[in-house]
Amino acid sequence: MNAIVQNIPELPLSKRLKADTSGNHDSVDNLVMGARPFESHERYAYFLRLQHRFHGVINGLYHDEALNQLLPGLHELPRFDAVCADLSDLGLPLPEQPQAIQPASSYAALGWLYCAEGSNLGAAFLFKQTQKIGLDGENGARHLAAHPDGRALHWRQFVALLDGLELSDAQRDEAIQGAIDAFDFYRNTLREIFPA
Ligand code: HEM
Repeated sequence: MNAIVQNIPELPLSKRLKADTSGNHDSVDNLVMGARPFESHERYAYFLRLQHRFHGVINGLYHDEALNQLLPGLHELPRFDAVCADLSDLGLPLPEQPQAIQPASSYAALGWLYCAEGSNLGAAFLFKQTQKIGLDGENGARHLAAHPDGRALHWRQFVALLDGLELSDAQRDEAIQGAIDAFDFYRNTLREIFPA
């Protein structure tokens, strides 16, 4: 796990988030691939339950008023409903509604949102994998499909909003911790949901 990079306040927030969580990202990436979620519909079902839990706990953040003031347009981005539709496509029951997480502050919530929105980039690769088991953006893999405007444009817009925020050093640290917590949550949930 990467140590929090100190004393480089001039780094844009998105760059610090990336630098301070790249080890977390790589461990999650390895765990996901090691779980072989695209081997069969059965294994993909575990992945969808994981995505349901992750996107479910953060869904409320996308509709939070204060966060929408910090990040205009945030309410248009959640993927929880698409995950639910994917579960229905595969004839799977909807798991219980996950309990919303309560990050320590709006700044910590920014880190959770960074983690979720960034995962859209890697989703390009995951989306391709789902085609091998006969799924696509209209059946079973809706939540991994690119936005009609493209993944890169969306990500650039999100990063520009993050980097445009005027945050104190303490607030930036809270955002980093939020992102680390989000990756930890994802990792722990994966271990809980996938069979050993
Ligand atoms: C097998 C699973 C995964 C693979 C192969 C993967 C792959 C990638 C790749 C290739 C990128 C960089 C894309 C680019 O710069 O154009 C990326 C970015 C990112 N991914 Fe993943 N990813 C995976 C899972 C996840 C998960 C589960 C999460 C979150 C829970 C996540 C969060 C992120 C974030 C936050 C970024 C943005 C990094 C940045 O540029 O700041 N990824 N991923």
